[in-house]
Amino acid sequence: MALIALAADKGAPGVTTAATALGAVWPRPVLLAECDPSGGDLVYRLPGQDGGVLNPGRGLLSLGATARRGLRPDQVYEHTQKLVGGLDVLTGLTNGEQAAGLTWLWGPLGRAFAALPGADVLADCGRLGTHPQMGDLLAEAELTLLFTRPNLDHVAHLRERLTLMGGPVGVVVIADPRSYRSSIDEVRRIVSATSKDVAFVAGLAHDPKGAELLRGQWGGRLDRSLLIRTARELAGRLAARVAPGRTPQQPAANLRAE
Ligand SMILES: Nc1ncnc2c1ncn2[C@@H]1O[C@H](COP(=O)(O)OP(=O)(O)O)[C@@H](O)[C@H]1O
Ligand SMILES: [Mg+2]
Repeated sequence: MALIALAADKGAPGVTTAATALGAVWPRPVLLAECDPSGGDLVYRLPGQDGGVLNPGRGLLSLGATARRGLRPDQVYEHTQKLVGGLDVLTGLTNGEQAAGLTWLWGPLGRAFAALPGADVLADCGRLGTHPQMGDLLAEAELTLLFTRPNLDHVAHLRERLTLMGGPVGVVVIADPRSYRSSIDEVRRIVSATSKDVAFVAGLAHDPKGAELLRGQWGGRLDRSLLIRTARELAGRLAARVAPGRTPQQPAANLRAE
């Protein structure tokens, strides 16, 4: 089904948090794939479905070790695990050095994700600009989401990044709920002055409590957080955009209420 790449230019605006939140409420079957070349975080942040720690040996690195001879889309699932709540995840590299030997992987991986049977893929690509071959994965994406905070320095880097982007791009502003609309509007104004035709500028709540809850046992309080509420709105919009005409299933399929 559809590959959506999530990334940022500079700083750590909250790409991994957003990818996790979107995966948790995605209205269709989805795979959350940690493709950040500087290494993954989920193994350290979230338990597996059985409550134990995720296996760092099963994920992008084990996939990379076998994919040299070719990668069929269905083989991706030989390397995935289930997070608490049931979300399928491909855990990331354990350190940035590993990416140096895997520059060839991003293109085939993007093609496998884009052709994955029965599930969309949310690929957390981390910060762009450090690994040029990541462009091979982005080229396969139906949509790339660039995350930013509304501060001037973040937006200035975003603006530069946009001029280098090829395919369809949407911008997501991690915005303070107290100035949510005005922050998004301000970024939209700046982005519209660039040469890149951006598909949309949307928001996701800056919600430290929600982000903290997302790292623990998932349940009802998280489900009511602003982070998850805004993620649900964004996920619905994105899922409809990348596959128009499909009937969404029940939302919050992966976010088990306790
Ligand atoms: N929407 C958010 N609201 C509040 N805090 C956030 C949000 N997203 C991320 N954070 C916090 O910012 C830090 C970096 O988040 P992370 O998702 O790892 O960023 P990135 O993947 O862009 O490096 C973490 O401490 C996280 O809890
Ligand atoms: Mg990250």
